[in-house]
Amino acid sequence: MKILLAGGAGYIGSHTAVSLLGKGHEVVVVDNYDNSSPESIKRVEQLTGKSVALYEADVKDKVRVLKIMQKEQPDCIIHFAGLKAVGESVQQPIRYYRNNIDTTLTLLECMEQTGCKEIVFSSSATVYGSENPSPCHEGMPKGSCTNPYGWTKSMMEQILQDASVADKELSVVLLRYFNPIGAHESGRIGEDPQGIPNNLMPYVSQVAVGKREKLTIFGGDYDTPDGTCLRDYIHVMDLAEGHVSAVEFCAHHHGTEIINLGTGQPYSVLDIVNTFQKVNDVKVPYEIGPRRAGDLPAVYSDAHKAERVLGWKAKRNLADMCRDSWNWQKNNPNGYKR
Ligand code: NAD
Ligand code: UD1
Repeated sequence: MKILLAGGAGYIGSHTAVSLLGKGHEVVVVDNYDNSSPESIKRVEQLTGKSVALYEADVKDKVRVLKIMQKEQPDCIIHFAGLKAVGESVQQPIRYYRNNIDTTLTLLECMEQTGCKEIVFSSSATVYGSENPSPCHEGMPKGSCTNPYGWTKSMMEQILQDASVADKELSVVLLRYFNPIGAHESGRIGEDPQGIPNNLMPYVSQVAVGKREKLTIFGGDYDTPDGTCLRDYIHVMDLAEGHVSAVEFCAHHHGTEIINLGTGQPYSVLDIVNTFQKVNDVKVPYEIGPRRAGDLPAVYSDAHKAERVLGWKAKRNLADMCRDSWNWQKNNPNGYKR
């Protein structure tokens, strides 16, 4: 199949490109490099020995996207293109709504005009909100989000679902990611956050490599076994392989299917720090600080539906995630910038 990855030069998109190419699919990437660089795709090509059709374009730009889709005629789209920093979304809500919602509408309109009927969407566990206790399963009603980023995900899910009600030939898969971490085993591609990382694993890696002095653990007094928050961390290559299964499922399906991509196994912040130090034999100085506003004590998935519907299950463990994150960080201390 030919798959168009909107936002495919980013962290999850680049790893998914490797998995798709490895399975014999063709890959087209459209990205404006708002949060990435073309270097990631160059490395994808080096790793796989295959070429990627790469377009620098804003996915909100309907004229450009339509031309690309008419030329490439993809069988399926994976929509990764979005802004994802929670704190920034509170400061710049209009930019977040404009970018995330508009990219989705543009892709749907271009699909309508070119006859492409399959779309896989990058959603997030954040749509379960604070109302749903973990493990979160797909049958639960969505909850209320605490920030504009989360609301864009919730709204985009609704838009895609409505589109599939109106067009019975449309096939939509909403993938709700839990916490993707790690990197490709080669250490050639990985997560390359701009500025101070918001997420735990890039912060831990940057402390280990000496770019930051110490990690602040946000809260040590939660009602959890060690007092720190529990999350469902998933290796980005497992996540990438989940996308290959979703794309293949999409081809034989109509309507909307919601699927969690997680391991179902919660780990605490201290589990991450301790495992990272142990498997990589490095020090990660840390202190326990105050709680971060909006954090929930425990968020993890019920991962059974993915196994049942997609025949996919995460295979890599926490040690693999910590080893591969470090392998990427120590070989690329400045990310894709040399
Ligand atoms: P990322 O920022 O590395 O990748 C997103 C890519 O989209 C970037 O390359 C960026 O340049 C591109 N992009 C953004 N707006 C664009 C536009 N208008 N036109 C063209 N390209 C555009 O993020 P990621 O971690 O790879 O996440 C991919 C998707 O998965 C995002 O939608 C994100 O919200 C979602 N998601 C990520 C996580 C996570 O923890 N990483 C968790 C849940 C959901
Ligand atoms: C966050 C977002 C979520 C988004 C996801 C992926 C919030 C409230 N949630 O999830 O909407 O989908 O990222 O982008 O921001 N931690 C520390 N110290 C740090 C960083 C993190 O202790 O410096 C802790 C957090 O309190 C949390 C865990 O590590 O318990 C994971 O944090 P993070 O990587 O930011 O992911 P989430 O908060 O789960």
